[in-house]
Amino acid sequence: MQDKDKVLIFDTTLRDGEQSPGVALGVAEKLEIARALERMRVDIIEAGFPASSPGDLESVTVIAKELKGSVIAGLARAVPTDVDACWEAVRHAERPRIHVFLSSSDIHIMHQLEKDKERVLEMAREMVARAKKLCDDVEFSPMDATRSVPEYVYRMLTEVIDAGATTVNIPDTVGYAIPEEFGQLLRDIQSNVTNIHKAVISVHCHNDLGLAVANSLTAVQNGARQIETCVNGIGERAGNASLEEVVMSIKTRPDFFGVSTNIDTTHIHRTSRLVSQLTGMAVQPNKSIVGVNAFRHQSGIHQHGITKMRETYEIIDPAVIGLPRGTQLVLNKNSGRHGLKSRLDDLGYEVTTAELDHIFIAFKDLADKKGEIDDRDLDALVSGGRREIEDQFKLDLLQVSCGNQAISTATVRVIGPNGEEKQTSSTGTGPVDAAYRAINELMGVPNQLIEYAVNSVTEGIDAQGEVTVRVDVDGRAFVGRSADTDIVVASAKALMNALNRAMSYMPGHTEREVLSNP
Ligand code: KIV
Ligand code: ZN
Repeated sequence: MQDKDKVLIFDTTLRDGEQSPGVALGVAEKLEIARALERMRVDIIEAGFPASSPGDLESVTVIAKELKGSVIAGLARAVPTDVDACWEAVRHAERPRIHVFLSSSDIHIMHQLEKDKERVLEMAREMVARAKKLCDDVEFSPMDATRSVPEYVYRMLTEVIDAGATTVNIPDTVGYAIPEEFGQLLRDIQSNVTNIHKAVISVHCHNDLGLAVANSLTAVQNGARQIETCVNGIGERAGNASLEEVVMSIKTRPDFFGVSTNIDTTHIHRTSRLVSQLTGMAVQPNKSIVGVNAFRHQSGIHQHGITKMRETYEIIDPAVIGLPRGTQLVLNKNSGRHGLKSRLDDLGYEVTTAELDHIFIAFKDLADKKGEIDDRDLDALVSGGRREIEDQFKLDLLQVSCGNQAISTATVRVIGPNGEEKQTSSTGTGPVDAAYRAINELMGVPNQLIEYAVNSVTEGIDAQGEVTVRVDVDGRAFVGRSADTDIVVASAKALMNALNRAMSYMPGHTEREVLSNP
């Protein structure tokens, strides 16, 4: 029986979050995020959508086998093959959940499903019953609920609860709801769905109007006891309700909400960084709770107040989200493997011996160039090391000549998975353009560069430059990242990373596209 004062956190970073344009996580990256979510004590982790691709089936299976604390959920459309594939993956978990969804709005039913509304109700009932035979814990979502005829949603919910659903989730799929109206919908559901007391009420809010967190919190005030979130608010289009904002609102204002969550908030900061690093989705500086400016005070009056008493201008103690205050431990070229490993442990990274070997070499190289290495450098080294291990095609040599009186020329050599080497030279409008032309010639993956950004990892002229690129390959966006003290090298490696991702994704690509992702 669920405690009525406890709000469960269902995190869908690995499913809806992974649907963010340009994000494609590998199995190892998903497992690492899942472990971080479990350490943060997320109640339910939606690990993926097993029927959508063999890669998703594999990653949900691995997560279900490895994790022990959280409930592991998989998503399934209301069709037998999806429900069975979902069970195949989540059945390995100690506490598995099947999450079935089916559209309830006229616009989806008529134009996407092209089915009769009675038949849709039957599908919902039948697929929840099928899931229930396999798994005790079944969640059902009437997709696009907030644009549906309410009476139809009530009927659908009543029938799926009768068929065995233990959680009913109300999705604001297109981020259309306004808090007041969403609160009313939740109250109406409780008055019109006679068996609602047998299920936990959940909400899943998208952020198209910037209201996902507000709608989720209003839902809590109106009886919801599960909130679906993504770390850093990532997800389809404008994203989902952000985990850190929902959780910290509930924690900061117990006087108002009168409920709590099970989340260990001291893991919020490092989990946010991990998700940002692995997905390649930067966190905007002024993002609530986890943006770099969230605890920075610029105005002299504010700084004065803070030094006298923190609470004058801070409503959250940074330590509560695990943000170190004051001087961070800085490593340098004299630091050994042990010091590096222990700092990586503190930051929440789980690195294998092979990864540590690789990172340690890169660490020494960087420390020689720039002296002091702080946590932001370590983030870049860990994710860079992993990308290099995973990338099948590696940049072996890059040599450029450029200048205001010169024609920029780049020579590039790449090494393929079987050790084969290819080399070419190219000219361009600048060193990055020349390097990109040479790489494209060698890799032979037709693509269009749609975004190129350089950011400094830390302060100082000797800082690493972190390059993020987004390329369009066959209508799909792929992100590549790399950091180096030489930004031309970082640029070349970032493009290589994006093209490697595109190539590894291609076999399952068609299959995934055929499926209509929620
Ligand atoms: O946005 C949505 O409706 C979804 C459902 C599958 C819950 O992601
Ligand atoms: Zn969604």
